[in-house]
Amino acid sequence: VDLQVETEKKQASHAIQPDIVEEIRVSFAHRIFFTSNLFQKQSPLFHSLLVREAPHAPAQVVVVIDRNVAEANPGLCASVDRYCREWSIALAGEPLLVQGGETAKNDREVVEQVHRVISDHGLSRHAYVVAIGGGAVLDAVGYAAATAHRGVRHIRVPTTTLSQADGGVGVKNGINAFGKKNFLGTFAPPWAVVCDSAFLSTLPERERRAGFVEAVKVALIRDASFFEWIENAADDLARFEMSAVEELVRRSARLHVEHISRGGDPFEHGSARPLDFGHWSAHKLEQMSAFRISHGEAVAIGAAIDTLVSVEAGHLGAEDADRVLRLLERLGFSLWAEELSREKELAGGLEEFREHLGGELTITLVRAPGAGFETHEMRAEWVRRALEILRERAHVP
Ligand SMILES: NC(=O)c1ccc[n+]([C@@H]2O[C@H](COP(=O)([O-])OP(=O)(O)OC[C@H]3O[C@@H](n4cnc5c(N)ncnc54)[C@H](O)[C@@H]3O)[C@@H](O)[C@H]2O)c1
Ligand SMILES: [Zn+2]
Repeated sequence: VDLQVETEKKQASHAIQPDIVEEIRVSFAHRIFFTSNLFQKQSPLFHSLLVREAPHAPAQVVVVIDRNVAEANPGLCASVDRYCREWSIALAGEPLLVQGGETAKNDREVVEQVHRVISDHGLSRHAYVVAIGGGAVLDAVGYAAATAHRGVRHIRVPTTTLSQADGGVGVKNGINAFGKKNFLGTFAPPWAVVCDSAFLSTLPERERRAGFVEAVKVALIRDASFFEWIENAADDLARFEMSAVEELVRRSARLHVEHISRGGDPFEHGSARPLDFGHWSAHKLEQMSAFRISHGEAVAIGAAIDTLVSVEAGHLGAEDADRVLRLLERLGFSLWAEELSREKELAGGLEEFREHLGGELTITLVRAPGAGFETHEMRAEWVRRALEILRERAHVP
């Protein structure tokens, strides 16, 4: 990133000087809370997040809920309603239920519904749009909140392990368009993020596990002691023992948020996305399987591939790689999928990854658990060998 900035500065110094140049600085407080049962009557947290504009004017709030979350938690809408009455919060209409999962991002419907509620209730930029749901709903509602009035205050309540441990605590939003994932979207730090562990108990098993892999990923490239902690907790995690899951979510969220705030590139102007370890092949695999393979499942395979590539490239010992693969397997991930046989097509994921970020191909590899680094070098033979090892490991002929 620094290198990129330096290069840009050098190029800029040869360019014609502007007649006016001012630096614009904007700083954001990115606040994440961990709790359980956010809308329990006596819990002050949600109320404390809302700033009153005037003593007699209660905070205006729109609540948007992932329909699958509402169905799995039948008392939720009533609790939100009761909570707002109890704490004198002005709820703009009933909670709005929207379709959950990727369909929330596949057209403009959810975005328009949210825009309409904001418009119909005459809400200002100082109102709050609260989104309760999986990462997909948060992305769509976050985009709507960021674009109405050029940005209405937005509170995110991620309800999946994946969104609590990774995407939901970030600063990006977006929807899919023109057949491209996240084609429309903005960088918009939310007013606050609240991770409520109570929601995790209603997740289907496949969704529960999905968040574990992003935690393994970020531990593997950033934090050796967290990696060891996950190894020790693997059996509890595989059984979805709540205190282990909560700790995993917190530590993973913290590492992701630290990266955003201290990594030097919160709005991703550079060509690298260091936390996307294993993601070049994961994105491709999701696509090749027509999304039968979920993001978490694909990242488990992608992380295994780039771990083995790290060995082939001479950076990582084979024993350390085996630790990583074994951990992913113990957490319940399968490290093989039939799509991996289409090696050439899979390798196309590298170019797509580069294209999306622009500039030179930059990928993250590992030297040891906890020590990731960025490199521009990637060879087809390394990937081929990694796939061979995964095939042997899965006993696929
Ligand atoms: N903004 C970012 O920085 C960022 C980062 C990573 C991923 N993402 C996005 O996040 C999305 C994936 O999010 P996800 O993994 O949370 O999946 P998801 O939002 O697709 O949710 C998975 C499924 O579980 C349901 N669900 C959610 N919470 C539930 C609960 N508590 N109980 C029962 N069912 C529940 C959802 O309705 C959906 O059907 C993708 O669109 C991805 O692009 C965004
Ligand atoms: Zn991911």
